[in-house]
Amino acid sequence: MYRFPSILIPLSVLIFPEQGFGADKALGESRYNESCVSCHGQAGKGAASYPKISGNEVSYTTAKLEAYREGIKQGPNSALMIMMAKPLSDEEIENLAAYLEDAKYEVD
Ligand code: HEC
Repeated sequence: MYRFPSILIPLSVLIFPEQGFGADKALGESRYNESCVSCHGQAGKGAASYPKISGNEVSYTTAKLEAYREGIKQGPNSALMIMMAKPLSDEEIENLAAYLEDAKYEVD
């Protein structure tokens, strides 16, 4: 009798291939609030000289963070971001990018 293979490709990979393997927005949000909110503000809305980083495609944010992690300068203040991106794992970058894509700042 035919048995299903025990390892199935998660449906999300087929439907959202650009989001990578199981990107987790909730984990991305908690990582964001741990290390990024102090400069980039609530939900990545930007603050003073720190750029707005929400509302960009997952692929854009992922590419930026990977470049910073490799120590590649992107703008005039890259030193700060290179320092911040160094410790990020691939998974953390995916989660952060997924969270930031449509993170919203609610004014109360
Ligand atoms: C110490 C302040 C600081 C912290 C903390 C910080 N950033 Fe940044 N970030 C910056 C600055 C400054 C830039 C612009 C750097 C440049 O000129 O290249 C930047 C740029 C970026 C960019 C590129 C924006 C663009 O469109 O070019 C992304 C994405 C980003 N940060 C994500 C993050 C994430 C995710 C975290 C948390 C892991 C984080 N940042 C933590 C200061 C910070």
